[in-house]
Amino acid sequence: MSSDASDSEATDSEASDSEASDSEASDSDASESGAPVPDLSVPDPLVPEPLVPDPSDPGAWDPRTRHAQEAYTRRRLAVYDAVVLGLFCSVVWRCPRGDMLRLYRRATGARHLDIGPGTGYFLDRCGFTGPPPEITLLDLSQECLEMSAHRLARYRPRTCRANLLEPLPLPDGAFDSVAMSLVLHTVPGGWEAKGKSFAEMARVLRPGGTLFGSTVLAEGVRMNALTRRLLVEQHRRGNFQNQGDSPDGLARALAAHFPFSRIVVRGNVALFRATA
Ligand SMILES: C[S@@+](CC[C@H](N)C(=O)[O-])C[C@H]1O[C@@H](n2cnc3c(N)ncnc32)[C@H](O)[C@@H]1O
Repeated sequence: MSSDASDSEATDSEASDSEASDSEASDSDASESGAPVPDLSVPDPLVPEPLVPDPSDPGAWDPRTRHAQEAYTRRRLAVYDAVVLGLFCSVVWRCPRGDMLRLYRRATGARHLDIGPGTGYFLDRCGFTGPPPEITLLDLSQECLEMSAHRLARYRPRTCRANLLEPLPLPDGAFDSVAMSLVLHTVPGGWEAKGKSFAEMARVLRPGGTLFGSTVLAEGVRMNALTRRLLVEQHRRGNFQNQGDSPDGLARALAAHFPFSRIVVRGNVALFRATA
């Protein structure tokens, strides 16, 4: 092994020496002839490429939301329902997913917008009995959109790739219900910044329509040692951006955009519902 490694180091350095002298030779040739010198440099694979914002990518301009696009790989989504919804929700955040599912069953309307659907677990389990709902899925992560749309294919959902912190590319009053389940604690900013997204939810809901969902809180709730420890770990990894998120802050942010709202705290999770 070690001799291979030193062999290859030796070869690399020989190669770069010869490249260097070649390019010096061609530089001097070019400057003598006055012709423009082509850039033949090869990027160093160990130095990360600088991020070049792609204007067609809705999350590319805000480095804090890039996490949403990068965290939800297919491998992680494959275990998300069991690990996050099954284990973390009941054991760590102390709000079993059954409570969230009940809220979905009660509040999902005929024209429904799901913001940050993840794997599509809750809509899949809603068990709609009447006419099938018209579902629109909005997410910044292409993987989440693909996975949830595939899982909910029987409802022929529309998909929309967008950043919920920006104006939504959706018409006014188009939905009877909007859900944001376990989304707000992952997005950057305090309640003032996150609350701005409520203005957009209110705009796309018809008058009397319902916003509902859940979010993990980090302030103003009782926490045991395990919860506190794993919350700090989520902050360290950048998975959660809910430092300072309290039930009071959420209540104020909802009240600023909805005439009626209600919050129930279970464990570390706020389950909320508001009427436009
Ligand atoms: C923790 S998952 C929740 C998934 C699902 N709603 C649930 O309850 O299991 C967070 C979801 O929000 C999406 N998301 C996070 N930040 C977003 C943003 N700024 N704009 C749109 N979607 C975002 C993620 O891609 C992901 O689908």
